[in-house]
Amino acid sequence: GKPREGGLKGVDFERRGFLHKIVGGVGAVVAVSTLYPVVKYIIPPARKIKNVDELTVGKASEVPDGKSKIFQFNEDKVIVVNKGGALTAVSAVCTHLGCLVNWVDADNQYFCPCHGAKYKLTGEIISGPQPLPLKQYKARIEGDSIIISKA
Ligand code: FES
Repeated sequence: GKPREGGLKGVDFERRGFLHKIVGGVGAVVAVSTLYPVVKYIIPPARKIKNVDELTVGKASEVPDGKSKIFQFNEDKVIVVNKGGALTAVSAVCTHLGCLVNWVDADNQYFCPCHGAKYKLTGEIISGPQPLPLKQYKARIEGDSIIISKA
């Protein structure tokens, strides 16, 4: 039975190669299925927010005289202020470190609660650590809707 042994060894060898392929294949599938969500997490898909020129954001009654309200507009948060019936709109994102500013009607200015940045109604800097004015937008009332548009 000596030659048979040699034959068996040959079969065994081939089988091992086959097993390696299977193990390797399973390993690859596991690796891909594990890494896929990780890679997806690290590289998120492009956000689906449409970049529009203008947008109806709400009802005129939401921003009465002397009041303000922040609306999402494209990628930005925009604060709409009503001063005597006229609307002004600027980015509410403080140019210092990105906190949202408040409109303080009594002082006629925006105030950032994080580090005290102050801005004029139209976004220009009054004082504080911020490097840039607030980005300007336009806002108007049409019917009973507030519409924000790019400046
Ligand atoms: Fe507004 Fe610092 S984030 S003052």
